[in-house]
Amino acid sequence: MLLIRRVLLFGIILCLVSRFLEGQKTLNFLLFRKIVANHNSKYISLYEAAISQDHTTINITLNLARNITADVWLKATIGQRVSKSGESYRDVFTYNVNLCQVMGRGKGISLINFWMNNILRQSNMPRNCPLREGNYYMRNIRSEKETIPRFIRSGSFRIDSSVYVRDWNSVNLTETIFYVDIKMK
Ligand SMILES: *[C@@H]1O[C@H](CO)[C@@H](O)[C@H](O)[C@H]1NC(C)=O
Ligand SMILES: *[C@@H]1O[C@H](CO)[C@@H](O)[C@H](O)[C@H]1NC(C)=O
Ligand SMILES: *[C@@H]1O[C@H](CO)[C@@H](O)[C@H](O)[C@H]1NC(C)=O
Repeated sequence: MLLIRRVLLFGIILCLVSRFLEGQKTLNFLLFRKIVANHNSKYISLYEAAISQDHTTINITLNLARNITADVWLKATIGQRVSKSGESYRDVFTYNVNLCQVMGRGKGISLINFWMNNILRQSNMPRNCPLREGNYYMRNIRSEKETIPRFIRSGSFRIDSSVYVRDWNSVNLTETIFYVDIKMK
């Protein structure tokens, strides 16, 4: 009898715990499915992105071969996959920001600041411009709920991004396509 009661109690606790975890799980999450990374070999000798086995984090390696003495900009276009089977995406929005200004501003509450802080947390990337030649890494980049725009719905997305130097005829330093799955609560 006592054993049955214990088992029952254990069952109830397990149930509550899993409910609780489920509650946690309904927070937004983002999984990295695939990353296509290209770089301009005039300025960059190595640019790589690796996805963890559980698809939740990425590491990026960037070996900058030259000093980038002008402001560096980021342009990112986010597209949502139209159908489950196909590979066609409908653009949702585009960001175009001066990364040097964002870094210089430091703390902020904008989406781009959240991503910046997120990325720089485990990184040796410089915190200000001009970017100096050197070998840089960004590790264990993961999304947090603040880093996803609120109007995004669950689904598969393509983030087409380029880091470029506007003052140098908008030459691209890197071109990266992130394929991600997003689940909203
Ligand atoms: C990212 O870097 C960390 C720290 O070096 C390492 O533990 C982890 O396995 C790396 N992840 C990937 C996907 O390479
Ligand atoms: C890059 O910048 C650093 C620091 O400003 C400087 O010492 C170095 O000589 C520069 N490299 C080149 C190739 O200009
Ligand atoms: C830079 O990269 C973007 C995104 O991949 C692309 O659309 C654009 O045409 C590239 N610009 C140049 C000047 O190559």
